[in-house]
Amino acid sequence: MDFLNLSLNDDEWGDLMFGESAPLALPPDLLQTNWCGSSGKSLAAQTVAFYQLIKHSYEQHAGLPIKNVKLLDFGCGWGRIIRLFLKDIVPEQIYGCDVDRDILQWCQSIPGNFTVSEPRPKTLPFSTTFDLIYAFSVFTHLGKETHMDCLRALHAGLRVGGILIVTVRPREFISSRGIELRNLPDHEIDNLLGRFDDGQYVHIPYVMEPVRGEIPYGDTAIPEQYILNHWQLFFDVIDFSPFLADPMQISVILRKKQ
Ligand SMILES: C[S@@+](CC[C@H](N)C(=O)[O-])C[C@H]1O[C@@H](n2cnc3c(N)ncnc32)[C@H](O)[C@@H]1O
Repeated sequence: MDFLNLSLNDDEWGDLMFGESAPLALPPDLLQTNWCGSSGKSLAAQTVAFYQLIKHSYEQHAGLPIKNVKLLDFGCGWGRIIRLFLKDIVPEQIYGCDVDRDILQWCQSIPGNFTVSEPRPKTLPFSTTFDLIYAFSVFTHLGKETHMDCLRALHAGLRVGGILIVTVRPREFISSRGIELRNLPDHEIDNLLGRFDDGQYVHIPYVMEPVRGEIPYGDTAIPEQYILNHWQLFFDVIDFSPFLADPMQISVILRKKQ
């Protein structure tokens, strides 16, 4: 199916791709919610908003049109975001990877290149270099060593000057004590807030098997100061911008250093 020549604006395109007659298979609502925190129309609106943020950020900060981009969705899940790029680029430019083999089944009907990746990767699972990589709500979960492994692999997989966009949690993720943190006692929340305000990496691991000595996944909040101190070894930090469609995600826009 060729979506490139559809003359739809982004909202109409989102309505088509997430509507009742979506041309590519969508997971059931429960799976959408388990994976992304919501489903249906509200998830569709948030997805279109992030898709637009990625396109505009790339065109603004790389100074190049999106139509020429080789694009990777890192931690793509069921491919909810990357499928929207079929309106802008050909399947040969579309890539996605995830550690979860089962969720990747939902990407099988999406034209593009999808494969499984390592939880603590040394390299990306593709032998190509990308112009643009994004990771939505992936660095909101990674253990500290795991996040550094992923960051190094992403850096190695980007061309020099390429753009990386990841989302991280704001301080309010801890202070508002959402569903993920509601069972923690007050003193633990105060402790996490103190660490966040001190610029430290905050991670509450899930109960799961460690990988090379670290539980790779849980709930994570990375303060701006930590990013400025540690990520600038590899990347220029271009911008931190609140993501209006989801106040619990902040977009960090980075450019690979020379
Ligand atoms: C909250 S979900 C978000 C999925 C997708 N980015 C989206 O917004 O629809 C987090 C995703 O990150 C994947 N993930 C977890 N650890 C990862 C890792 N070390 N490398 C790549 N993906 C990972 C999970 O399997 C899951 O699909």
